Amino acid sequence: MRRKIVAGNWKMNTTPQEGVNLVKGIAELKKDICSCVELIVCPPFTHLSCVINAAKETGIAVGAQNCADHESGAYTGEVAAKMLKSIDTEYVILGHSERRQYYGETAETLNSKMALAFANGLKPIYCVGERLEQREAGQHFDVVKQQIEEVVFNLNEEQFSQLIIAYEPVWAIGTGKTATAEQAQEIHAHIRRVLANKFGVAAQDTPILYGGSCKPSNAAELFAKEDVDGGLIGGAALKAEDFIGIAKAF
Ligand code: PGA
Repeated sequence: MRRKIVAGNWKMNTTPQEGVNLVKGIAELKKDICSCVELIVCPPFTHLSCVINAAKETGIAVGAQNCADHESGAYTGEVAAKMLKSIDTEYVILGHSERRQYYGETAETLNSKMALAFANGLKPIYCVGERLEQREAGQHFDVVKQQIEEVVFNLNEEQFSQLIIAYEPVWAIGTGKTATAEQAQEIHAHIRRVLANKFGVAAQDTPILYGGSCKPSNAAELFAKEDVDGGLIGGAALKAEDFIGIAKAF
């Protein structure tokens, strides 16, 4: 049985107070979902500390949305993996398409980030996914394969066992367009096969989350698919009812 995970990527939304209220709201509604589902919330850096505090003893885990590709030093505006760990951050999202697209993240920077995350005891949620023109050109299988090979294949077995993958087709993020459950299953199964090429049977245990306009109304259909182990949720993670509504789909 693979882990079932619903993770919220708050992106650049909410104030610290709103973030605390949101995690408290999620904690209150959590009794309505299967205890088999793990919840993770990923607020902006400024509220990690207070959200971590508010999430204590709720069973909700907290992650960051990024970390620096250097250990420490003269990197104005960056936040190191070690700093995140020092305030008990558990997860870190790496390789989100918005980071790749707007902040020029490459396989090289992502390899450094991944290594530093693991070295500091953070568990990465590594994102892959194709852009619209790549899907239309039938390149989506190759795109995600490459994004996995160039970063995930550099992990050792112990690191790999802690990894979560998120498949997020760029054309579905924040657009209201969702991949069909069949499209999601097809590419999640492909991702698992690619992972198995390198890590063998261990790939059977890797949680692969779907992201891209996932909401309470479509989550059940997506999560019913064999290789869809949960979601990485953007817009719908900003309301406790919607986030829990998605988790209820399990
Ligand atoms: P969305 O974002 O749910 O708003 O489409 C998903 C994500 O980018 O993680």
